[in-house]
Amino acid sequence: MSDKAQENNEPIDASADAHRDHSAFRDYEVPARSGVAEFYAENHRLQTYAFAAAKRADYGQLARGRMGVWDACEHLNELIDDSDPDTSLSQIEHLLQTAEAARADNRPDWFILTALIHDLGKVLCLNGEPQWAVVGDTFPLGCPFDPAVIYFDDFKLNPDQQIAEYQQGTGIYAEGIGFDSVLMSWGHDEYLYQVVKDYLPEEALYIIRFHSFYAAHHGDGYTRLMNEKDRRLMPLVKTFSSYDLYSKGDDAPDVAALRPYYESLINRFFPEEITW
Ligand SMILES: [Fe+2]
Ligand SMILES: [Fe+2]
Repeated sequence: MSDKAQENNEPIDASADAHRDHSAFRDYEVPARSGVAEFYAENHRLQTYAFAAAKRADYGQLARGRMGVWDACEHLNELIDDSDPDTSLSQIEHLLQTAEAARADNRPDWFILTALIHDLGKVLCLNGEPQWAVVGDTFPLGCPFDPAVIYFDDFKLNPDQQIAEYQQGTGIYAEGIGFDSVLMSWGHDEYLYQVVKDYLPEEALYIIRFHSFYAAHHGDGYTRLMNEKDRRLMPLVKTFSSYDLYSKGDDAPDVAALRPYYESLINRFFPEEITW
């Protein structure tokens, strides 16, 4: 895409990635150990409006300490995700690999930085949060579940099904309200958004907040809740996901060699430490 298009904040053209077959990588963030089906049965039963609202209110206070962004990348690396069926890479290697793929395609600096940090919200696991409350596809709460969500049938055991207000029309939301005003299921996307929301441009924040919302960026779900911003930026999230998924097939990056470049990139957007 041209520099001019980037200046205009037009969605980045994903056509260059069209040949990439992502289907083989689709289950990355779900633990294979317990099985994808079992993971979503638990996730869809337990992610209620009340649960997600309480977690957002709690973690949204950002009262769990201060940490620099690079240090967070290294901290996340303590999370050994041996359940990932697609890669033997560590967490920091996945982040660097996603960022390096974006950098190789001459994406803007904010996009490369977004690729580097997009999964840092998984530090929730290091706080003792269970997998079903950290990873997996995300979806709106307080409105009817959409068949575009993976394992849709598992929602039948979600207690929110018994709350009539949530299950009619667009639920508690006005039509076209926009995803920024919707409560999403709790996980690493929303947490990192809360942590970095004062530091990054709108497009970066949108990618971080909705990168696991596959029903919207790879499906046609929840269109009645979308506003102009969602229609403008959701294609960008889809483009981003091609880096997130595809780069998992590449060789391991050299963390030490890449560190100076990424620390200087981080320093252009973030102070030395941020609150978590
Ligand atoms: Fe993620
Ligand atoms: Fe990722």
